[in-house]
Amino acid sequence: MDSRSHDLRDTHYYNLLLMAMAPKDVEKKIESLREKIRHHEYRYYVLDDPEITDAAFDQLMNALKKLEGEHPDLVTPDSPTQRVGGKPREGFVKAPHSSPMLSLDNTYNEEDLRNWERRVHELSGRSDIEYVCELKLDGMSLALHYEDGKLLRGITRGDGSIGEDVTLNVRTVRSIPLAIAKEKLKQAGIPAGFEVRGEMLMPIAAFRRMNEEREQKELSQFANPRNATAGTVRQLEPSVTAERRLDYFGYMLLVNGQTYFDRHSKTLDALEAAGFKVNTRRKLAENFAQVWAFIEEWEEKRESLPYEIDGIVIKVDRTALQQELGYTGKAPRWAIAYKYAARAGITRIEDILVQVGRTGKLTPVAALAPVPIGGTTVSRATLHNLDEIERLGVKIGDWVEVERGGDVIPKVTRVVEDKAHPRGHKSFHMPERCPECGTKVVRTEGEVDYRCVNANCPAKLRETILHFASRHVMNIEGMGDALVNQLTDRGLVKNVADIYRITKADLLQLERMGDKSAQNVLDEIEASKKLPLERVIFGLGIRFVGERTAQFLAEHFGSIDALMDASPEELQQVNEVGPRIAQSIAEFFQEPKNRDLVEQLRKFKLTLTGHKKQRGTKLAGKTFVLTGTLAGYSRDQAKKMIEDAGGRVAGSVSKKTDYVIAGSDAGSKLEKARELGVAVIGEKEMTELLG
Ligand code: IVH
Repeated sequence: MDSRSHDLRDTHYYNLLLMAMAPKDVEKKIESLREKIRHHEYRYYVLDDPEITDAAFDQLMNALKKLEGEHPDLVTPDSPTQRVGGKPREGFVKAPHSSPMLSLDNTYNEEDLRNWERRVHELSGRSDIEYVCELKLDGMSLALHYEDGKLLRGITRGDGSIGEDVTLNVRTVRSIPLAIAKEKLKQAGIPAGFEVRGEMLMPIAAFRRMNEEREQKELSQFANPRNATAGTVRQLEPSVTAERRLDYFGYMLLVNGQTYFDRHSKTLDALEAAGFKVNTRRKLAENFAQVWAFIEEWEEKRESLPYEIDGIVIKVDRTALQQELGYTGKAPRWAIAYKYAARAGITRIEDILVQVGRTGKLTPVAALAPVPIGGTTVSRATLHNLDEIERLGVKIGDWVEVERGGDVIPKVTRVVEDKAHPRGHKSFHMPERCPECGTKVVRTEGEVDYRCVNANCPAKLRETILHFASRHVMNIEGMGDALVNQLTDRGLVKNVADIYRITKADLLQLERMGDKSAQNVLDEIEASKKLPLERVIFGLGIRFVGERTAQFLAEHFGSIDALMDASPEELQQVNEVGPRIAQSIAEFFQEPKNRDLVEQLRKFKLTLTGHKKQRGTKLAGKTFVLTGTLAGYSRDQAKKMIEDAGGRVAGSVSKKTDYVIAGSDAGSKLEKARELGVAVIGEKEMTELLG
């Protein structure tokens, strides 16, 4: 649903409808729209099984936004329009837990697990014990408090007794219900006031996308989905959390700090019935053999999951037995984690090579003595940059620990040094010349990275073609490393437009290419011509222009021609485009070669126009910062209104801010504005500015 369009609904029809509607009817209509939207959010985000198209969903959402916009008094915090919003925060407030949030004891092998089971038998005096097996999700645990069926608070684990109130970020997670109907709770057998505990996580795909975006913007990378989850839950701007696509699985239900149902398996079923996302990959095991089978099954299949797990959690099913078994210091005796072997290994660095990326960036890569890690053999790991090599203190010949997570490229995490693993001696130096083309390498003052500045460097070409053909860009399946290497080596492809010149005869002369695969590639190339403008913009490989920026550019300009002719000033009118990105885009299109490339793409009939989003000009060139709670609008609504009128909404106050719009409880942004002498206006003045 990422790409939901935001076309406005037929306003005329709605105005007529509204004029005819009595206040009670409006209220009813609003509630009925909310119920529908909640249902479809549940189908999409919890069940992963949508019943309607994204466009149909947008229509419902826009209809609700419109009605709420006209009746601000009817906006309630549990409305689906209110996921992002609320007061700005300068930090998090501490919040106590209803009962301690415990952690789990770990086991790493079958023997230890059998010992745990034996202890359970001994302490309980029984041997017929059922266990629930669940995946151990690798995220962060989080408690959700509901009152009257409504989400009241989300609290991080913290030290187990006191966590941090991260409600505003939690609300943006679409698989977490903001409100649950009384009937639904009743059917699930859950009272209206309760607490769910579970795991917040970032799916691998969302993690990769986020890191790609960050790389485009030359921001630091998150090491793994778990860190990314924690970083996202604990960052201060809810709209950022909303974009990062977190997910939440419930695994505990408490009422007044106590387990509510008499069996854990019932708890999970009840949470599911109430509309929470509960992992379907679970099992009620009747004996150890079944527990072990579940552990083995998922050890093998863990690579196929869309998120990371680090083991299996085994819990005694009956609550009465759990209570009998009780707790040791920090962990329950009635549950245990079986941890899978870390996807890390120790091996030796045989050499450090340098890879040249699409932007010419030189990345040092460790050539490793091949080592099996989590089912595959790893012989390369990234060292990111020279600063990282210095931080790790890595030398050629060192033994190092290498980690691999999900889809992420393996990386060196530390140097291992002991009797069996003596240190290496050879230091790595960044080459003075590009290893691919021999051009002198440049490091710009203040930047971490070294770059090859030769526009015709073959490595850049190869990476540019790979980027253009990749899934998020022109999605040309089959055009991976092997094919692109051959195409560029043989001079068949010298720029991205050449892709559209490839003939079957060209392909048939390549290695491992039969008639059928050649035809498949040609069909894929043909199909890519239909992809929307933003993909082409992204595909051009303009520095700092990632997927999101490409989308904003396409929406703002509506055609490649308008984009090509835009001045840096005009470019800065675009959402999230600052001087650095604007400069980079303008420079790209000043280059005659690049303009010529666009002309070639036009000749091949790629999609070079799109739908310009109607934006006003009333606030063109003006930058706003929102702070405090507005009475009549949510943050989202206000932001959209300003952007629709051509204005820009920034996250922090600087000298370049034109207006700070302050609602009630405005915090330090207001102070900052006063300090810098930036105009501060209220909601009323904002409405006036918007006309
Ligand atoms: S139950 C008292 N179930 O693992 C029981 N925890 O190492 C507490 N975790 O802090 C937790 N998946 O963050 C439980 N299915 C699952 C889990 C799970 C992941 C995490 C959780 C906990 C940590 C303990």
